[in-house]
Amino acid sequence: MTARLRDGFGRRFEYLRLSLTEVCNFRCQYCLPDGYHCDKDDKPQELSLPELRRLIAGFAALGVWKLRLTGGEPSVRRDFAEVLAMAARVPGIRRVAMTTNGYRLAERIVDWHARGLGALNVSVDSLDPRRFADITGQDRLPEILRGIDLALGLSMPVKVNSVLLKALTDQELGRFLTWIKDTPLSLRFIELMQTGDNGEFFREHHLPASWIENQLLAAGFSERPREPGAGPAREFSHPDYAGRIGLIAPYAKDFCASCNRLRVSSEGQLRLCLFGDGGYDLRPWLRDDEQGEALQEQILGQLGYKAAGHRLHEGYSGSTRHLASIGG
Ligand code: 5AD
Ligand code: SF4
Repeated sequence: MTARLRDGFGRRFEYLRLSLTEVCNFRCQYCLPDGYHCDKDDKPQELSLPELRRLIAGFAALGVWKLRLTGGEPSVRRDFAEVLAMAARVPGIRRVAMTTNGYRLAERIVDWHARGLGALNVSVDSLDPRRFADITGQDRLPEILRGIDLALGLSMPVKVNSVLLKALTDQELGRFLTWIKDTPLSLRFIELMQTGDNGEFFREHHLPASWIENQLLAAGFSERPREPGAGPAREFSHPDYAGRIGLIAPYAKDFCASCNRLRVSSEGQLRLCLFGDGGYDLRPWLRDDEQGEALQEQILGQLGYKAAGHRLHEGYSGSTRHLASIGG
């Protein structure tokens, strides 16, 4: 099917990132340093399983074929395995991926794979168990690495997200490179983004993506040509390494030109940009199966408002307080 989702800047959207919950059980210093909290009276009203099904079906009817389940941490939802199986069955959806902190990966990956999970992103900011625990508040690096090995053993494509952090990634680059020498995964270094909540941490730890690019080129890596439809990551490879490296540099010029994604929050808000203002509530069109066409019209109408680019350079991060609120 050809994508009907296009915007005024020639970008096509075949990829939906759907947050299942804002809740996360990690406390990453740049995201939720004090852990996830919400007031008793202000509990988020997450989309239900039938609402999620209608939403995914609506996007699929408009040409979206790739779905990523995110959070918060998507697997803290009790019905996560059902959501996964449902999503994989929606006509038109060809790939279901998830982004996870890896918390339950080792014990669940075989079941998730059987239910239709086709690809995996796992966050690993440090390969040193103590540092990992410092950053995330969870002393679980060995289990997470075991989960990654299990996924690779199932032949799943695995991407590992690592946020670039001064005084940390710069000290561990050698260790990361040794890891991917024989491990066929795609390691993505993500430049730290300033959000509403993390200003001080950002000023202390922001490491520009150019730093790592120079290191990679010096180590004999070369940039691969962009594949059609690829997202904003720039990919590097080396003939002696089984793994690849991706660089995600949201502060780079033209980063937004390759944006191929739309986001929906766990409460059903369509977010056109991670760093935009607010969202558009799709929930009224998810109440029953009769409103499929109306839902599609709403989505198409909103796309006209997607801005050409973010304004992060001006220190403006829209209404995003932290990435747990909408997934990365
Ligand atoms: N800047 C960069 N990356 C972030 N992530 C969460 N918050 C930020 C931020 N402020 C990353 C997580 C995860 C991915 C979904 O986004 O570490 O790997
Ligand atoms: Fe860390 Fe992701 Fe949880 Fe934020 S949502 S605390 S980045 S694991």
